[in-house]
Amino acid sequence: MQVYLDYSATTPTRPEAIALMQEVLSQQWGNPSSIHAWGQRAATLVERSRVQVARLINAPPEAIVFTSGGTESNNLAIFGVAQHYTRPQHIIISQVEHSAIEQPVRLLEQWGWAVTRLPVDALGRVNPADLKAALQPNTVLVSIIYGQSEVGTVQPIAELCHITRSYKKSQDILFHTDAVQVAGRLPLDVQQLPVDLLSLSSHKLYGSQGAGALYVRPGVKLVPLLSGGGQESKVRSGTQSVPTIAGFGIAAELIAQEMATETPRLIRLRDRLFAHFSEMPDLLPTGDLIHRLPHHVSFCLPHADGEQLNGKVLVRHMNLAGIGISAGAACSSGTLLPSPILTAMGYRDRVAKAGIRLTLGRDTTEADIDWTAMALKQILARLIPQPQLTQGLMAEV
Ligand SMILES: Cc1ncc(COP(=O)(O)O)c(C=O)c1O
Repeated sequence: MQVYLDYSATTPTRPEAIALMQEVLSQQWGNPSSIHAWGQRAATLVERSRVQVARLINAPPEAIVFTSGGTESNNLAIFGVAQHYTRPQHIIISQVEHSAIEQPVRLLEQWGWAVTRLPVDALGRVNPADLKAALQPNTVLVSIIYGQSEVGTVQPIAELCHITRSYKKSQDILFHTDAVQVAGRLPLDVQQLPVDLLSLSSHKLYGSQGAGALYVRPGVKLVPLLSGGGQESKVRSGTQSVPTIAGFGIAAELIAQEMATETPRLIRLRDRLFAHFSEMPDLLPTGDLIHRLPHHVSFCLPHADGEQLNGKVLVRHMNLAGIGISAGAACSSGTLLPSPILTAMGYRDRVAKAGIRLTLGRDTTEADIDWTAMALKQILARLIPQPQLTQGLMAEV
């Protein structure tokens, strides 16, 4: 039995998107900027997709800027705002951002910008009071991840937005959220949620890789990252990738339609897997179990030594059992580094090298969940033969 449980890494492109993309590639291959019929047919496809993606977040279509994916959308949000300023300003992010926010912000830091990284608690939640205290007269952007990809925690984005808005100089502060993991799984409505910028990625919601979008609230001006033909309302130059954008559109429309039934189903499966964990004392759930992505299960191994037993080792064993999951910690020159997310949540290095994520999706069944739990139990019994006490989980403070 093969079980794919890594839907947060990427989702399989859904058949409807594949069919449309094939049609576009073979028949509608015009350049959407051309004014002849070939071009205009392609432009119609891009505009239809813009409407479909906009509907997913209840935005006006003209507020959607197509990009190559979530990474580009995040970079466009950060640098598109920062480049307005000739002098370094202040930006606020959290300690649990995706690298597609953390890395651009590090560059800003090297260029002299002041950066506040809001701490998180042991569940990975930002405290709104910390944001309130961090806002300064020269703050120009707040960017907080909506649903954390490694530990599943969902941040109180509405409250964080309102705090930013109520700061006295708030007219100058933009609010961005990386909603790549949330879109299509939890309702998103930018008419209710006063964000200025919001990132989306096609391949996280059953479109293909290579397309994404940044919602830009009407009136918000960004400095483009790319200079060129001025496509996408002059915010993102470059001929649009019509096949991937078309696939993104249909995928966005279908996931929006299915959310009312699919999200509760995912929550049931997620909680079923968490319930299995109660029989496995060798693992501990990570992240917030209440404010949580519907498709997201994560845990750490409290007995991990970081070397013989770590996240990668478990992922490899699960892979041999035919189950695809992922580990949070990354390798650098062959050495396993602790996950910065688990470290920010207070876990010791050896435990922060042993964070695991299982993410569910449209094809996941109850049988998959039970099979995975059984395999996990057997593998853990082999890897951790002695019952051990859970101690020394968190770093000393
Ligand atoms: C929260 C989050 N933001 C951004 C990205 C990057 O998206 P993409 O792979 O489309 O560049 C990812 C992908 O893993 C993600 O999970």
